[in-house]
Amino acid sequence: MGALYYKMMTSQSMRSLKLISHSPEQTQKLGTGIGELALPGDIYLLVGNLGTGKTCLTQGIAWGLNIKEYTMSPSFVIVRELHGRLPLYHIDLYRLDHIEEVADLGLDDYFYGNGVCVVEWAEKGLSVLPPEHLMIQISFISDTERSFQFKPSGKRYREIAGRLKHLSLKS
Ligand SMILES: Nc1ncnc2c1ncn2[C@@H]1O[C@H](COP(=O)(O)OP(=O)(O)OP(=O)(O)O)[C@@H](O)[C@H]1O
Ligand SMILES: [Mg+2]
Repeated sequence: MGALYYKMMTSQSMRSLKLISHSPEQTQKLGTGIGELALPGDIYLLVGNLGTGKTCLTQGIAWGLNIKEYTMSPSFVIVRELHGRLPLYHIDLYRLDHIEEVADLGLDDYFYGNGVCVVEWAEKGLSVLPPEHLMIQISFISDTERSFQFKPSGKRYREIAGRLKHLSLKS
């Protein structure tokens, strides 16, 4: 009861924050916390290998935005729009091979609109993605454990990272 599920390490001045998730459910819960804090125009860039938990986290973000639809991995679509407290634009760059392809998608209406953008495989498009964002780098630790490193760029995202540090992640 009241157990804290994440180990937290915070570097000076919130340049990065690292959390360890011990299960898919904890990752979803972390996502829900992010979704509850999200504001129109927020950009979350997810970076991490196949199967690390990007979609699992996005599912939680969707729940935190009061989106009831199940967020399956959008493997055949690049942009999926879901509607809750705010629109969620779930963008998956997995299938793109060249930065020009990302630039040609014309994603700016999503990035600079009133919804929340979550980008899987953001490393494929970094140079054409918004410079102010919260990057979330996910790494595999073991079958059930993943590390989440939050790297904010810009004031808004340092603020969110600061609030995530205080998130109560009870069962
Ligand atoms: N702590 C954890 N957090 C998230 N997922 C976990 C965790 N432990 C195990 N898993 C498992 O890892 C898998 C993560 O799948 P998910 O589709 O979210 O990954 P992904 O990063 O989106 O993959 P892809 O690169 O294919 O899009 C799921 O099968 C999930 O059950
Ligand atoms: Mg995925």
